[in-house]
Amino acid sequence: MARHFLAFSDFTAEEMAGILALAADLKAKLKKGQRVEPLRGKVLAMIFQKPSSRTRASFEAGMFQLGGHAINLAPDTLQLGVREPARDIGRILSRYGDGMMARLFSHVDIEELARYADVPVINGLTDLYHPCQVLADIMTILEHRGSLDGLTLAYLGDGNNMANTWLDAATRIPMSLAIATPPGYGPDATVARRAVEAGLSTITISHDPQEAIAEAEILYADVWTSMGQERERQKRLAAFAGFQLNARLLGSARPDALIMHCLPAHRGEEITDEVLEGPRSIVFDQAENRLHAQKAVLVKLLG
Ligand code: CP
Ligand code: NVA
Repeated sequence: MARHFLAFSDFTAEEMAGILALAADLKAKLKKGQRVEPLRGKVLAMIFQKPSSRTRASFEAGMFQLGGHAINLAPDTLQLGVREPARDIGRILSRYGDGMMARLFSHVDIEELARYADVPVINGLTDLYHPCQVLADIMTILEHRGSLDGLTLAYLGDGNNMANTWLDAATRIPMSLAIATPPGYGPDATVARRAVEAGLSTITISHDPQEAIAEAEILYADVWTSMGQERERQKRLAAFAGFQLNARLLGSARPDALIMHCLPAHRGEEITDEVLEGPRSIVFDQAENRLHAQKAVLVKLLG
């Protein structure tokens, strides 16, 4: 049975530490110009139901750097669920290559894809989770902090795939996680309950951004309108007012707090241009680390 990475918690804490160490090693070697090609001759099929820049480019670059190849199946070509069901795609693409990365709407669909695949399936974002992003984020936090001990992170905004993934990550990495969303926009209830019941981290879910950020070293923002929710944008703009990461809110945060955002950002909505471009922002380190972190996952699963 192939091993998949559909959720952050698909790896144990020990495996996660190994992946992070491998990611750092691959990054250092790449910077020194050393070639590391454990995936020579291997093929990754990339399935997209939604747009992407970082995920598409970093997986394709990563497979090339590891000696392999990536096939890009854009939303209008493969049309998973429209032209063919996930269970057929899973079986067909398993016969052409060594792994799949999929960005889908429904998490149930990626689970079906994985169930029918004979090769590893990696979640490149679903409506429920975005584990590759949080893996890269944790690598970035490690680089800036030197350790994950006593991590305090505040997530402001929508209880979406990013918020859910942080909750899932808190079942593997001990942290103090404070999530603040407007009423009615909280994270997935099952994911939140599991995070609390795991008992590893301190989880606070509230509607108060000021309180959430008070102790946090990391202030994390994501868009208020995710891909596929565009028709709700006006309603969301009104509901999320007060949750913007801006200079005023930063005034009540720790002076050494770092700003993170998975990107793409909707500047002027969830975050101001000033804060995103400011000295505390580490968003481009996060974006870079998608490459290194995912290469480590690819080596672990496809190597
Ligand atoms: N953060 C992220 O996943 O970016 P893309 O949507 O551009 O892939
Ligand atoms: N929550 C956002 C994340 C984008 C990387 C979305 O799903 O569109």
